[in-house]
Amino acid sequence: MPDTRIIRIEGVKGNLTDRDLAAIEEAGRIIREGGLVAFPTETVYGLGGDAFNPRSSSRIYAAKGRPSDNPLIVHIADVADLHRVALSIPDVAYELADRFWPGPLTMIFRKKEDLPRETTGGLDTVAVRLPSDPVARALIRASGGFVAAPSANLSGRPSPTSIRYVMEDLDGRVDAVIDGGDSLIGLESSILDLTSDVPMILRPGAVTKEDFLTVLKEVALDRTIYDDQSPEAPKAPGMKYRHYAPRGELTIVHGEPDRVVPYINERTGATDEITGVIATDETGSRYHADVVKNIGSRNDEYGIAQNLYRILREMDDEGVDRIYSEDLGGSGIAQATMNRLLKAAGHKEVTV
Ligand code: TXA
Ligand code: MG
Repeated sequence: MPDTRIIRIEGVKGNLTDRDLAAIEEAGRIIREGGLVAFPTETVYGLGGDAFNPRSSSRIYAAKGRPSDNPLIVHIADVADLHRVALSIPDVAYELADRFWPGPLTMIFRKKEDLPRETTGGLDTVAVRLPSDPVARALIRASGGFVAAPSANLSGRPSPTSIRYVMEDLDGRVDAVIDGGDSLIGLESSILDLTSDVPMILRPGAVTKEDFLTVLKEVALDRTIYDDQSPEAPKAPGMKYRHYAPRGELTIVHGEPDRVVPYINERTGATDEITGVIATDETGSRYHADVVKNIGSRNDEYGIAQNLYRILREMDDEGVDRIYSEDLGGSGIAQATMNRLLKAAGHKEVTV
């Protein structure tokens, strides 16, 4: 087991200091030599290795405890490098890149022949993302190549949005971690498959269907995203696993607050179990459960998205056995929040 070195970024708001750049240069060397480095991105922390080194990709799967049929995202720092990892790139990809890169968008293409199948989980396609986080981009450049990176959590845990949770899951399993503070967005990137006739959203994220329609005439949605009864398998292999599951049993309660609050209070009163509620600023003070977490204001869907994974982990840390959550759905990024919440709940939901 490697001793995990922690690299703290000093610069604020993306203004990296000379010491930061030197430390990132060193982290890039670790990746070049086949090692693993966890690093910040604007979505969630990533667990990075050299995308063109099959042994690095195998090490990533081992460090996460992840099934090796679940492909990794390849991170690039410049649009001009897209053709070095992908083939048959449609023009529309460059229009999408113009509008949404650098940023929380992953696009799927046919893969370049020499990109190892260990990186793409055995598939002929590759998922590519150009992150906006300056630390992530400096690291990719310092690696001298491209960085394959899944989220930096153990398989089955919520994606980490701060160094604390990266260390909780990966201390001793990676060579270094770079601490860049809390993740800005807090949910993983939107995934858009460009290998199908009509581009298809495989995972909702901060770039929404409405955003895509400003560039595309048409966009489809993988129907398994909100419907777990669908007989089809999700097209993003990772979406089939019961991800993001807290230890406690989580139920989502839909309905008007005046019905939801008493419904949850009845079930979190006198019981031997430790009970928890994922509430909003508007309702938090009305709950009586052992642990009440306000996820943010209903008027701030970005704040809610940013807090979701931290709160799911805190419920575990506080030993909560039974968790109730308000419906966190809505428009924009709230659709991605609700997708992750539904998965965390194993689609256990009631309407009152
Ligand atoms: O925001 C993000 O995307 C973060 C940061 C670190 O960039 N990464 C991330 O990676 O969320 P990961 O591995 O946790 O999720 C990648 C998802 C998985 O569901 C995987 O199955 C899917 O992308 N995926 C990767 N390559 C694919 C491909 N060629 N075809 C279909 N799905 C693919
Ligand atoms: Mg993940």
